[in-house]
Amino acid sequence: MTSKVRDLTYIAMMATLIIVLGHIPGIPLGFIPVPIVLQNLGIMLAGAILGAKRGTVSVLLFLLLGTFIPAFTGGNNTIPVLMGPTAGYVVSWIFVPLLIGIGLKKIPSQNFLLTFLIIWLGGVLFVDFLGAIWLAHFTKMPFITALWSNLAFIPGDTIKALLTSLIAVKYSRYLVKD
Ligand code: BTN
Repeated sequence: MTSKVRDLTYIAMMATLIIVLGHIPGIPLGFIPVPIVLQNLGIMLAGAILGAKRGTVSVLLFLLLGTFIPAFTGGNNTIPVLMGPTAGYVVSWIFVPLLIGIGLKKIPSQNFLLTFLIIWLGGVLFVDFLGAIWLAHFTKMPFITALWSNLAFIPGDTIKALLTSLIAVKYSRYLVKD
């Protein structure tokens, strides 16, 4: 397999995984129109496994496919999602592989704590912060309320970041390097 074909295969597989995770039902919270989802685990994995460039392309491919097929949690498509309360999270997903991929390149691949810190900052804190900014704007709730309500995502998102870190450290020698 040439490296281009190999890259395209990995990118397509990651976009597929993100879509598959989107088919796992979300957990509605009630107090904000944003569910707890598993799909953002796929976004973190894209950065940790494929690195900045290929990870970003896989997220963009997922968003592109989502304009034709229901690719998001609850069977939603990309365009309606980008016009709704969760758009801030989804737009931030585009930059997650970049942040994680670049960050992980700068540290020893066996350092679990640093790996987790980078994945948590790029895949959890960054996303939940940007998500809260748009959520506040969209729902007209005070930003501080949106920020507080996003604390509900932190435990689950931290578990996803831990899982991604475990995979990144354990299989670091097989991961796709940029
Ligand atoms: C959508 O399908 O409309 C996107 C949902 C975004 C949910 C965000 S991602 C970060 C945070 N963690 C979660 O489990 N849910 C929110």
